[in-house]
Amino acid sequence: MSMKIDLSGKVVLVTGASRGIGEGIAQGLAGAGARVAVHYNHNKKEAEKVSQNIGNQSFIINCDLSDLNQTTGLVDAVIQKAGRLDAVVNNAGIAISVPDTADDETWTSAWLQTMNVNLNSLAIICKQAVAHFKQQQQGHIINISSRAAFRGDTTDYLAYAASKGGIVSLTRSIARYYGKDGVKAFIIAPGFTRTDMAQDFMDQYGEDYALNDIALNQLTEPKDIAPMVALLCSGLADHATGCTIDINAGSYVH
Ligand SMILES: NC(=O)c1ccc[n+]([C@@H]2O[C@H](COP(=O)([O-])OP(=O)(O)OC[C@H]3O[C@@H](n4cnc5c(N)ncnc54)[C@H](OP(=O)(O)O)[C@@H]3O)[C@@H](O)[C@H]2O)c1
Repeated sequence: MSMKIDLSGKVVLVTGASRGIGEGIAQGLAGAGARVAVHYNHNKKEAEKVSQNIGNQSFIINCDLSDLNQTTGLVDAVIQKAGRLDAVVNNAGIAISVPDTADDETWTSAWLQTMNVNLNSLAIICKQAVAHFKQQQQGHIINISSRAAFRGDTTDYLAYAASKGGIVSLTRSIARYYGKDGVKAFIIAPGFTRTDMAQDFMDQYGEDYALNDIALNQLTEPKDIAPMVALLCSGLADHATGCTIDINAGSYVH
């Protein structure tokens, strides 16, 4: 039995791959041989840099996931460009801090924006990827949720936690009811991971807040998430379909 993670010949779409966890995942997948569709929103230059650095004929692809009409075209655009699609890693996400004392309009607008980017667009991408994977009787979906889905989050990040909870039940449903069509689906639930998003949180709460919370000495980094994604895309872990993998440095075990 080969224990080598080999993704050569596979095309993987990674959303939000211009920086942070998505960039780390793109690097990991390419390191295992995959051709990566490096999706970005605002940071084209960074996405180009990622794509060039990882090689394997990887390419960049733009889409604003807060615009559901744009999102509808993303999966097809990747298939058109690459000629195939083997796996999707839904990683792009936002965490908007809005106090529960904010006026209703501000609070609701933040809630809807969060849901559009984190959950609604992810669902559209999953629907389209599932349709394609059913045709080829093979495909992997890895959805990046969060520890917050299980542990809850502070009162200014309610929409964030709820959006990440929605990802969990969607992914479990895909795994259970499209499995016989060859579709495998997994949830990764990171804790604090050193990225721009976590920096925003730490600016608010302090780095000690994060460090005191974890069982290890170092905060998690994108490179600590990437190998698991590569393993799940490889097919070596297919019988774990539907599962959630916590990568939170022991800050929440359940
Ligand atoms: N960092 C953590 O502590 C942590 C913990 C648990 C879960 N997560 C989850 O892990 C994922 C990645 O987080 P991160 O920390 O790497 O975030 P990040 O550093 O803030 O990067 C976010 C990525 O998402 C993309 N993105 C944001 N808004 C978008 C939009 N409207 N349309 C399309 N793409 C958009 C960004 O693209 P551009 O830069 O091109 O605009 C960027 O590539 C998220 O789903 C997050 O919820 C993170």
